[in-house]
Amino acid sequence: MTLKELLYSSPVIPVLVIDVLDDAVPMAEALVRGGLPNLEVTLRTDIALAAVERIVREVPDANVGVGTVRTVDDIRRAWDVGATFAVSPGLTPPLSKLEHSIPLLPGAMTPTEVMTAYDAGFACQKLFPASFAGGADFLRALAGPLPDVTFCPTGGIREDDLPRYLSMPNVACVGGSWLTPKDAIARKDWQMVETLAARAVAIANDQPTAASRSGSASPQAGEEDPGAALENLRT
Ligand code: 3PG
Repeated sequence: MTLKELLYSSPVIPVLVIDVLDDAVPMAEALVRGGLPNLEVTLRTDIALAAVERIVREVPDANVGVGTVRTVDDIRRAWDVGATFAVSPGLTPPLSKLEHSIPLLPGAMTPTEVMTAYDAGFACQKLFPASFAGGADFLRALAGPLPDVTFCPTGGIREDDLPRYLSMPNVACVGGSWLTPKDAIARKDWQMVETLAARAVAIANDQPTAASRSGSASPQAGEEDPGAALENLRT
């Protein structure tokens, strides 16, 4: 599966900050039950990689990525514990030269950053932080001059914003932490997490663009897809 196919396979990537290792599996299971199998576990807690390892082992229907990646070493460690993709808030020269790795979704916030990442082979990018960068209107503006870049906007996105982002022609999915509210996690309210995931899926399915979005993962005849070069080596 290419990174582009992965992004188009599910409308939302929940962004997870896991503080308690024993929460990792029930949290991931609730999100998968709700219909969101693509998960980003951020490297912001000491147990993040252990959490990834556990989810990979015990929740086989999840596609687990590692987020907040800043260095090549972060990606190597993510690979070692079985992550299938990596997400970064930006793109550094060492990260852009990384080869033979799990696919990387780099962050970009300006047209120059988007073009620089595209030239480095990244046709799929995370617009970050999306709400400060200009949100859905900014993505629409980018679609004119840079139509061949596919985005997963992340940062400041909430449930109410979903329809607008998902209606953009260059958005495959969005990322966000609203599916795992801190108070629900503290109560271990996994039903609430599942409900939020299911609601996001229902909103996405209500979009007039839902069918065409899921159909646009495959490059059209003659369409260049540099993202395909980042083939997922684990599948
Ligand atoms: C992040 O890296 O924290 C993500 O962008 C999630 O942002 P959010 O908490 O605003 O959804």
